[in-house]
Amino acid sequence: MSELVTYERQGEIGVITANNPPVNALGQGVRQGLAEAIAQGVADGEAKALLIICEGRTFFAGADIREFGKPPQAPGLPEVLDAIESSPKPIVAAIHGTAFGGGLEVALACHYRCGVASAQFGLPEVKLGLLPGAGGTQRLPRLIGVEPALGMITSGDPIGGKEALANGLADELVEGDLREGALAFARRIVAEGKPPVKIRDLTASIEEAKAKPSLFDDYRKRIAARARGNLSALRCIDAVEGVVTLPFDEGIARERALFQEALVSDQSAALRYVFFAEREVAKIPDVPKDTPTLDVKRGAVLGAGTMGGGIAMNFANAGIAVTLVDVNPDVLKRGMEIIERNYASTVSKGRLSQEEMDKRMALITPGEGLEAVAGADLVIEAVFEDMALKKEIFGKLDTLARPDAVLATNTSTLDVNEIAAATSRPGQVLGMHFFSPANVMRLLEIVRGAKTEPGPLATAMAVARRMGKVGAVVGVCDGFVGNRMLHQYTREAAFLIEEGALPQQVDKVITGFGLPMGPFAMGDLAGLDIGFRVRKHRKAQGTLTGRYAGHVADRLCEMERFGQKTSAGYYRYEKGSRAPVPDPDVEALILKTSEELGIARRNISDEEILARCLYPMINEAAKILDEGIALRASDVDIIWINGYGFPAHRGGPMFHADSVGVKSVYDAVCEFQKEHGDVWKPANLLKKLAEEGGTFTGR
Ligand SMILES: NC(=O)c1ccc[n+]([C@@H]2O[C@H](COP(=O)([O-])OP(=O)(O)OC[C@H]3O[C@@H](n4cnc5c(N)ncnc54)[C@H](O)[C@@H]3O)[C@@H](O)[C@H]2O)c1
Repeated sequence: MSELVTYERQGEIGVITANNPPVNALGQGVRQGLAEAIAQGVADGEAKALLIICEGRTFFAGADIREFGKPPQAPGLPEVLDAIESSPKPIVAAIHGTAFGGGLEVALACHYRCGVASAQFGLPEVKLGLLPGAGGTQRLPRLIGVEPALGMITSGDPIGGKEALANGLADELVEGDLREGALAFARRIVAEGKPPVKIRDLTASIEEAKAKPSLFDDYRKRIAARARGNLSALRCIDAVEGVVTLPFDEGIARERALFQEALVSDQSAALRYVFFAEREVAKIPDVPKDTPTLDVKRGAVLGAGTMGGGIAMNFANAGIAVTLVDVNPDVLKRGMEIIERNYASTVSKGRLSQEEMDKRMALITPGEGLEAVAGADLVIEAVFEDMALKKEIFGKLDTLARPDAVLATNTSTLDVNEIAAATSRPGQVLGMHFFSPANVMRLLEIVRGAKTEPGPLATAMAVARRMGKVGAVVGVCDGFVGNRMLHQYTREAAFLIEEGALPQQVDKVITGFGLPMGPFAMGDLAGLDIGFRVRKHRKAQGTLTGRYAGHVADRLCEMERFGQKTSAGYYRYEKGSRAPVPDPDVEALILKTSEELGIARRNISDEEILARCLYPMINEAAKILDEGIALRASDVDIIWINGYGFPAHRGGPMFHADSVGVKSVYDAVCEFQKEHGDVWKPANLLKKLAEEGGTFTGR
């Protein structure tokens, strides 16, 4: 028998133990071992019931990802599960850790399930663009009901032990030692003469679902509204529907067919790529994993404005005490009130307990003077975007902060090296560029200055992780990675409306592609006044070059149409609504602008709109990679997925470029350069990859 799975008898119970560190993944050896142990247990005349339990930190945590993309090796999981389910002796699963994916499917093939309260039960396949492919979509609904199962399968989110007990997924929770408790549970089943309960034969929840004929279509509508073109959850619904419309074996066959379809889909390829890219982004080649970091026990945030408050919440959410400092006592008071209101709203939605909110509020101390930074391990500055002010503050921090403290700036546009030079310890200075709202957005660009040392960099990455953020290391340049690319995108969008498109057409193409909003709705949300001020400033400085992208936006701002905050921008907004409504006045203004610029408006196709919006970003990213500002193309994708809502099922802009073909992106960029000038000059990397037939992401 395989060493990964053993069989032994304890009294009248045959105990099957798997031991495949680190997570008992269901690789070929484990499957083989399970099949043999089940056969042995069934044949063992002394055994009246069998128990499946795992050593180490978890029950089977899922498939073995090393087998991904390789030809399947016998025995397949479905065969093993059939052997479990058809055993004439009751089989009990004893669960701890994470019973995910194939792991939960093993438990569902068993006749009874017990586990510890801390165990997690889930079918996360949808997150990789897949669906449970070993009976999960057929057995889970039969066991816990169709609607609760749809919730788990389409979200991919796990539930805990208590919830599993409540919805019938677990038959019993074990306190204390799992093995002892599970053996006692199995003995009780034998003593009470309970039969093996095959989930395939359960019908109550099917009858219940049949009584609601519109259940699946209603669910589809709800999911489609959120999915933005991601078909994975819809495919899961198709599979679960088989529970109601097909006999068990045909339902299983349909699940299998849908699984195969998902496995070879572009969307699943993209989502699996993103899964690995998110692991990759944490690695910094010249900063080894064991680089000593500072244990951040206390933080300080300077500036209690839009960003500062959210950043302070991140500290508190991670359980780190923080002082929030502002020179303006009114702003500080308001900042604290906003934090309290934000938490209270989460509590009212049932997503946070009052007790947890109180704990977090208690971790945030307001302060008025910079002296408050004295006890902090990490200081994050989020004051006005003004170089002179930031330099003054960092100069003071140099004397006030502890010698080993990490000093970070949240600047979006200023030179981190210049800020670092205002201190005598530039090695400990870096950027921590949060995205708004800072307590919500997952992305954190960690800006490595020319002199930033490995320790502080690793410390910032570790804090990002504790805060539940995705930290991506970027270099110093105007706009870093995300906003530098964004700038290209919004510029081209502005040109498109001068040339013939309307905001609603451009936005529709972008949302149709899968972003949550298009560039014009986004402009209205962010506020058009910021860009207006920047352009005026640049005009005064004489630093504006090339074709001007602000004609329409300037006119809107001159009419005090600043976006949502004034209920009018590129769109108009009904009172109390954030839904953009196309505005004939804006259309007239755009037509007039084109005329004044001497541009003959033309029909612009959706294809051109998409290419004009996405390709300059891809080209800019290639320049960013050329310059070493981003470490890898996949980091760029992680930045755009987590900071700007780029659809994960498209893999990010660079993976998308590879999907389209780097050569065709390059050819289009060259064409646009001929038409629109040197803002479209192809990046060296783009040219090189196109010529070599290479890809950005190894796709
Ligand atoms: N707003 C965004 O979307 C966003 C996103 C990323 C980064 N940023 C960056 O974050 C920083 C802050 O932006 P914001 O939008 O929160 O600005 P804000 O104007 O809302 O807040 C800045 C706060 O700093 C305070 N302040 C000024 N001088 C101070 C001093 N000497 N000591 C302590 N506090 C002082 C002000 O009273 C004000 O409350 C800027 O560098 C900005 O570029 C902003």
